[in-house]
Amino acid sequence: MPFVLALGYATLLILLLGVASQIYKKFKSRRHLDITDQWVVVTGCDSGIGQGAVRALAKDGAKVVACCYTETGANAALAAGATWAPHFDLSDDGALRDVAEQILTQSGGALWCVVHAAGTVLPGFIDYQPIKFYRDVMAVNFFAPVLLTQKLLTALRRCRGRVIVVSSVDGIVSLPGNAPYDASKFAIEAYADALRTELSFCGVGVSVINPATMRTPMADAFFPGHRKTWTAMAAEDPEGDWQALWPESWLNQYVEKNTRQLRSIAEDPAAAVNDIVHAATAAHPKLRYLSGRLAKSLFYALWLMPESWSLRIKRLTVQPKPPRSTS
Ligand SMILES: NC(=O)c1ccc[n+]([C@@H]2O[C@H](COP(=O)([O-])OP(=O)(O)OC[C@H]3O[C@@H](n4cnc5c(N)ncnc54)[C@H](OP(=O)(O)O)[C@@H]3O)[C@@H](O)[C@H]2O)c1
Repeated sequence: MPFVLALGYATLLILLLGVASQIYKKFKSRRHLDITDQWVVVTGCDSGIGQGAVRALAKDGAKVVACCYTETGANAALAAGATWAPHFDLSDDGALRDVAEQILTQSGGALWCVVHAAGTVLPGFIDYQPIKFYRDVMAVNFFAPVLLTQKLLTALRRCRGRVIVVSSVDGIVSLPGNAPYDASKFAIEAYADALRTELSFCGVGVSVINPATMRTPMADAFFPGHRKTWTAMAAEDPEGDWQALWPESWLNQYVEKNTRQLRSIAEDPAAAVNDIVHAATAAHPKLRYLSGRLAKSLFYALWLMPESWSLRIKRLTVQPKPPRSTS
């Protein structure tokens, strides 16, 4: 009996400590810093989450360098409040180095924050993914943030600033039909983890944002993007036996059905933008932000559950199923 009583008290104590630590964390994360006139760099500002982050950070008084892909995107970013909006291809190392140099000159070598929001996706099942598409996705989603961070590190150290990496729920749970993107997001997660530890010695914080599906041009183009990959493989390997397993008739059904479904679950990108702003301005930012309802529920559960369970659930996402292989 005394043992049962002691166990009861111990459980109660653990629960109370858990609740107290949650309240403390909430309280701590509420205090915000003034970022007026601080230099902040955001990539991927032509549209979506990056453009939303430009608007929100500029509203908070930051001097935002909005890195865009196109001139039209750069004009939209300037209209959203950016101080400067260079436009260039992030996968071009030379162009990226030039822009990094110009950022250091303009900011006087002192940067508060860099937000890596640019991203690209080339969906498709592994049988019909050209190897080039893995390289193209890695160039934007992994190598560009790695190089840009390196070029800006001294300026970030001077301010004891922040690096914010926009990953994805696909950076913690890999889904079928999107291997290049998921591999790039897992890679950037590993990089961010190493970076966080290395920069912790000089007071620079690293936060990772994991958005679920959000209503942006990337999500709208996602399932139709399978056609681009399928067509590229049909040109590269027209006689390949992959077409028996993934025929065009199946592809058309797959794209139509899933495009409808994705529209019904896509969330407001404001959730990810708010998390970026919190990571950039809170006195005590979180290490990781699961942005959106599905990130906090389904993906968090998939992340933590045994892999044999998550495999069963992930198999359900391939609908309609491809025909069975006959060979
Ligand atoms: N939307 C979602 O469901 C979702 C979910 C999880 C994670 N994310 C992540 O959130 C981030 C923002 O995505 P988003 O949803 O806001 O999509 P988005 O509107 O398509 O934004 C991506 C941005 O990256 C830019 N970009 C792509 N390739 C580039 C290149 N080579 N050089 C320069 N810029 C380039 C795009 O420019 P253009 O528009 O001119 O191509 C665009 O401005 C990405 O890292 C994405 O992986 C999105």
